[in-house]
Amino acid sequence: MTRDEVLGALRALGPAEPYRVKMVEPIRGSCRAERQQWLAEADYNLFRLPAERVCLDLLTDSGTGAMSQHQWAALLEGDESYAGARSYYRFEASVREVFGLPEVIPTHQGRAAEFLLFRELVRPGQVVLSNTFFDTTRANVEEAGGRAVDLPCAEAQFPGRPAPFKGNIDLARLAAILAESRPGEVAAVVLTLTNNAAGGQPVALDNVRACRQLCRERNIPLVIDACRIAENAFLITQRDPSCSGETVARLVRMLADCAESITMSAKKDGLANIGGFLALRSTELAERIRQRMVVTEGFATYGGLAGRDLDAIAVGLREVLDEAYLAYRIGQVCFLGDLLRGLGIPIVEPPGGHGLFVDAGAFLPHLPPAQFPGQALAVALYLEAGVRSCEIGSVMFGLDPTGRRPELLRLAIPRRVYSNTQLAMVAAAMARLQEQREAVAGMRLVYDPGVLRHFTARFEPMRV
Ligand code: F0G
Repeated sequence: MTRDEVLGALRALGPAEPYRVKMVEPIRGSCRAERQQWLAEADYNLFRLPAERVCLDLLTDSGTGAMSQHQWAALLEGDESYAGARSYYRFEASVREVFGLPEVIPTHQGRAAEFLLFRELVRPGQVVLSNTFFDTTRANVEEAGGRAVDLPCAEAQFPGRPAPFKGNIDLARLAAILAESRPGEVAAVVLTLTNNAAGGQPVALDNVRACRQLCRERNIPLVIDACRIAENAFLITQRDPSCSGETVARLVRMLADCAESITMSAKKDGLANIGGFLALRSTELAERIRQRMVVTEGFATYGGLAGRDLDAIAVGLREVLDEAYLAYRIGQVCFLGDLLRGLGIPIVEPPGGHGLFVDAGAFLPHLPPAQFPGQALAVALYLEAGVRSCEIGSVMFGLDPTGRRPELLRLAIPRRVYSNTQLAMVAAAMARLQEQREAVAGMRLVYDPGVLRHFTARFEPMRV
């Protein structure tokens, strides 16, 4: 390497890991012929692959992170009492400290919190509006008989065009819908922070505040889906000059202050492997949920979790606010983004919080949405290098009649798990695919289970 090449490579690296590695998990390699067979056995759906057959698992950042020594130490203090465990009170104190809402209800993961909340908030026929619902959130609104409507901002439609807050809700459309709605027609507004389906893009503080104002005027509850709120807050400090002096902890509080209720999957910014919660302002709503949750989740002080899980989350929620950690985390996503951009691979710009999103529709222009370019690329990347990723497009959400919604491939990055060298391997595999991209076959959906179909659908490759 020349000196300039070395300096260029060093600049691309981003911030170093703010931790040392104390325990390692071996990765089993595989060859192309094996992967070819395994793909057929999995019906070309990577959710059907045993993890043993995956070299680098970028399927999701959910529950796949590495816990810190403080979290592992906290596990040993777990109090497994059925009711009123010490672990619960430590958990409650941490959630109150970070978010500031008084009522705290643990759940086994984020979707359970969504189920419990929307069952109370939504009546059949009512509408729930959002910047963009994630799949489980949408499913839980629909399960309660509601109609889930996405109102992403205009910038979100153009994957390759950078804008600082592509996660925003379209305030003009929100205001117009609210103005035209009959009283009681809109049950709630949900802001997903960050906006996962739109590329892990942040929502601006101003956007959240304006949304709260519109909701207040009509007495409609604003729900924040806070799965990745720390990443969202960090990105605000980076992208909104008026917030550059704020701490992440304060910004998280400012965002949470706007919400009537918060649903959380602790598997993301709780830095835990399982768990979630509801944080609510209304004691009356909290009591109703506590009474009903016993049937499915368990008693209200453990919500389907072991005491030790509650302790791990209590520590994780405070740890995730560490700005050195967040700088490294977001820096790692940018590192992969720099490599792919440099190769000329179309990505969602700018890179977001929890993963890199490839514009599969633009990368494989020979495949129309009905041949699922995101799924085709996920399959090709697995075959090429044993990397597991996730389609976010017409498989996950169904075909878009307007044809405007992007077909994306998400390379989700687990927290504190993979090195930049491992991510560079993904970029190398993408570069090889780029050279033979016309050979990537479209996918035919041969089994469609309906609800949340991406988890269990079956595919066949089409002839090229
Ligand atoms: N909300 C958002 C924005 C999510 O991304 C997820 C999960 C949930 C809610 C549900 O939380 O898994 O704890 O029940 N997203 C994962 C993903 C599965 O891969 O993005 P959960």
